[in-house]
Amino acid sequence: MKKTYKIALIPGDGTGPEVLREGVKVLKAAGVKFDIKFDFQEYDFGGKRYLETGVTLPDSAIEEFKKFDAIYLGAIGHPDVKPGILEVGILLKLRFALDQYINLRPVKLYPNVETPLKDKGPKDIDFVVIRENTGGIYTGIGGATQVGTQNEVAIQVMQYSRPIVDRCVKYAYEFTKKRNKKKMLTLVHKCNVLTHCGDLWVRSHKEIGDKYFPDIKQDYNHVDACTMWMVKTPEYYDVIVTENLFGDIITDLAAMIQGGLGIAAGGNINPDGVSMFEPMGGSAPKYTGKNVINPLAAISAGGMMMDTLGEAKIAFAIDDAITKALQSGKIKSLSAGKMGMGTTEVGDFVASLV
Ligand code: IPM
Ligand code: MN
Repeated sequence: MKKTYKIALIPGDGTGPEVLREGVKVLKAAGVKFDIKFDFQEYDFGGKRYLETGVTLPDSAIEEFKKFDAIYLGAIGHPDVKPGILEVGILLKLRFALDQYINLRPVKLYPNVETPLKDKGPKDIDFVVIRENTGGIYTGIGGATQVGTQNEVAIQVMQYSRPIVDRCVKYAYEFTKKRNKKKMLTLVHKCNVLTHCGDLWVRSHKEIGDKYFPDIKQDYNHVDACTMWMVKTPEYYDVIVTENLFGDIITDLAAMIQGGLGIAAGGNINPDGVSMFEPMGGSAPKYTGKNVINPLAAISAGGMMMDTLGEAKIAFAIDDAITKALQSGKIKSLSAGKMGMGTTEVGDFVASLV
């Protein structure tokens, strides 16, 4: 019997369905080549369903998703829905309910891709950010009083427990070891000001490193300095581990130096459970339905999904196909409408190279 992976698809809003379709196309091509099967099941959660029914993501869906090997998502976001509702109600709910405590963001400049960094090339931009994905200020602890008055007070707290920090740091060390490049794990925080949370992360990073990973070099950057170095000397980095909000911010910066949202993919990972993979780009309403959006980030997210499922060979083949497609020079730009071919053609091209 062929190995079969059960994958839940959430195409979502805007250009989400278009890019996910190409990702699925490439997975199917890889399936044929490597003799595995996919059992895809589609779910229509997103802005459209919310506007029609008032439902973002019911608890019953979470229970259903637990039966899958992974979730593959297009994009969530709708111009007619107030910001925050879909983000909290769908994306963050999935991350928290499925305990996807790692946000994995490879930052890699592919050949022929333009970076805004002068004189930097693919050999300089190749690192990974591991963002803690379920803790910190994202837990939403806090409140507000006298809202709307001149004396309004609002509090939102950054909270971390030792186990939540430790599991993320451990994952990051394991990842750095397995990646086997510079063998350096840079902790990014702001321990000079956030003395409580920062200190907790610094001790976790040091103690776990000393005890279990003596071969991995320990390194530390304040987050503000990190944004500087990422632009000036990105070649310095190997793997970065950081808390949730800092990770959110620096991974957008990182996405830009690798060529933008057309290529940046992310994984929301529960190493012992159901993980979710997505292109970083949003729903891009103005490009919807025009066959002009770039599907490479979604395709790349599919490759990450295979890697996380233990199919390293397939992941490598997909990444290699993306590299070859870009190397060919036939894809003129990563920007929507400027690729020199349509969304479906890019998908066909990559699928033919797997
Ligand atoms: C991301 C996004 C989300 C985040 C939003 C949409 C909730 O910006 O995946 O980086 O802040 O984590
Ligand atoms: Mn973000």
